[in-house]
Amino acid sequence: HPPSTPMQGSTSLRWANCRAKGGAPGFKVAILGAAGGIGQPLALLMKMNPLVSVLHLYDVVNSPGVTADISHMDTGAVVRGFLGAPQLENALVGMDLVIIPAGVPRKPGMTRDDLFKINAGIVRTLCAGVAKCCPHAIVNLISNPVNSTVPIAAEVFKNAGIYDPKRLLGVTTLDVVRANTFVAEVLGIDPREVNVPVVGGHSGVTILPLLSQVKPPCSFTSEEIDYLTSRIQNGGTEVVEAKAGAGSATLSMAFAAAKFADACLRGLRGDAGIVECAFVASQVTELPFFASKVRLGRGGAEEIFPLGPLTEYERAGLDKAKEELAGSIEKGVYFIRKS
Ligand code: NAI
Repeated sequence: HPPSTPMQGSTSLRWANCRAKGGAPGFKVAILGAAGGIGQPLALLMKMNPLVSVLHLYDVVNSPGVTADISHMDTGAVVRGFLGAPQLENALVGMDLVIIPAGVPRKPGMTRDDLFKINAGIVRTLCAGVAKCCPHAIVNLISNPVNSTVPIAAEVFKNAGIYDPKRLLGVTTLDVVRANTFVAEVLGIDPREVNVPVVGGHSGVTILPLLSQVKPPCSFTSEEIDYLTSRIQNGGTEVVEAKAGAGSATLSMAFAAAKFADACLRGLRGDAGIVECAFVASQVTELPFFASKVRLGRGGAEEIFPLGPLTEYERAGLDKAKEELAGSIEKGVYFIRKS
């Protein structure tokens, strides 16, 4: 169901029709919040992804400009733009993957939880659209506080009767990307060779890097463990402060979101062995949601891996993480149940 009149600047109808006739191999992806600090570079990266056949860019402002700009890239994906609430449904119909970076970012002195009031309502509206127009899509939720927005999305989907926990994924990839980078720095090796599992959630002490499970196997001094844990937990604040009021991480976040979306698409395609960390409905702990390694497949997060053996330091971190997470999850659930 493409919109009858594509927004000016969208990919030409002739190419769009040509792709459609050829069976348009690849997946249909929508970005909601596509004109924002994360949305724009993420749109660029998704337009470069050969697994994407159709890219829908939705925002409440400026999406025509971003769409015109991105549509001039000579890659395969057909790009269409959608502006404002009346066009949300057209943006969503038929999508395989919906990536949501819509909402306000942090300013210095703010926690991710300070964003709750505004972003909770935005996520509720957008997820209601997903439930109505593409109930089988995989959802990658980026809007903060992720620890609460994922439970919000789950409640919206439950109310609509379409909730499939495997298809709702909170994006915590930036924590992994940062952890890989900072650990590589300490080890003096290429960050591409490093893989650090980061579990828990996506905010402060809920971000729990498992430094005892780093690949390739290595060991750290207790000072290094303190330094790395704190830097990984506060990586977002490092960027917020350096940007001094101009927002939070956007470029590294777009990179992380594109990496995670690509993993989801490879899973959808049926590739084997796609494993990433994500914040999902989980039975790994007693909490209803938790971030840990998941195997991505045709159905989304098809398998959720246990945490594995933890050190005493990590167990103490896990206790702190769970305490904060419980409140954030509760807050998200209550936001929908009270309304
Ligand atoms: P931004 O303010 O630059 O962009 C947000 C975009 O969302 C704007 O273009 C705005 O018009 C749009 N928007 C607002 N309401 C909307 C609605 N109802 N429907 C569609 N679009 C809407 O913010 P930025 O820097 O792109 O951050 C976006 C979100 O991502 C924030 O909540 C931020 O905290 C979060 N974030 C999450 C990270 C993670 O690791 N999960 C990391 C960094 C940021």
